Amino acid sequence: MKVERAPDLGFCFGVKRALATLEEVAREKGGIETLGALVHNQQVMSRLEGLGVRVVKDITEVTGNTVVISSHGVGPQVLDAIKARGIEVVDTTCPFVQRAQKAAHRLAEAGFFTLIYGDVNHPEVKGILGWAEGRGMATLSLADLDRIELPRHVGLLSQTTQVPASFIKFAQAVIDKALVKDAELRIVDTVCHDIRRRQAATLALAEKADLMLVIGGHHSANTRHLVELCRPVTETHLVETAGELNPDWFEGKALVGITAGASTAPQTIDEVARSLAELNQLPL
Ligand code: F3S
Repeated sequence: MKVERAPDLGFCFGVKRALATLEEVAREKGGIETLGALVHNQQVMSRLEGLGVRVVKDITEVTGNTVVISSHGVGPQVLDAIKARGIEVVDTTCPFVQRAQKAAHRLAEAGFFTLIYGDVNHPEVKGILGWAEGRGMATLSLADLDRIELPRHVGLLSQTTQVPASFIKFAQAVIDKALVKDAELRIVDTVCHDIRRRQAATLALAEKADLMLVIGGHHSANTRHLVELCRPVTETHLVETAGELNPDWFEGKALVGITAGASTAPQTIDEVARSLAELNQLPL
């Protein structure tokens, strides 16, 4: 059995940038609080805990004088509330997320309603909706789209980590609906470039692999999207740690592909690769 890693896997540009900033601030200032988990990965968060990093769910829970905003970003209302309490902000919002926030803000200023193709419960989407100044909604469901009455001026964005092909399908449905209404529609492509590249690399590997292992947090949106992408193409399993590998999966498989979510640490990927090699007595 051969094992091949996708050329682009694990920590994305935005996560690497956020972690480097957080570690620098934690070393400089000692104990530090982050508003929400910096990344949706239990192993990474446990390591950060060791550096004195504490996660708070709400700004009312902040006890220190500095708070770190995660790569997912927040809405302007949250930033204002932090400043009003005299707390210093270290903002690690990913530039690709900022791009989506700015697009929502521009749309709101132009009097457009912002429709986001994304998970309404995800912190990134909540933040972007904040920039839409209360004139927006998010959904991943075409059925939801059918149910709502679209205003005449509509802007459409995507959560940065969505699969581009799915966004295009959703956008087509919005176009169909808007055209009937004689509406003005603005579509802004806000899918992250880094994610787009790694999804393409993962798909290319899945097409030749007998089995794909996607390594990442069970609650990580971009990890689950990699699974969605691979599953129609080949047998696919999502594992968060090496302990979740099932030896039966690999019986009779000639090529196993490995990919990982944008918040998966390199150590976790190496551990899974090592266990896989041991399982099959393969050289690393
Ligand atoms: Fe940023 Fe894309 Fe990563 S939006 S946080 S580089 S997945």
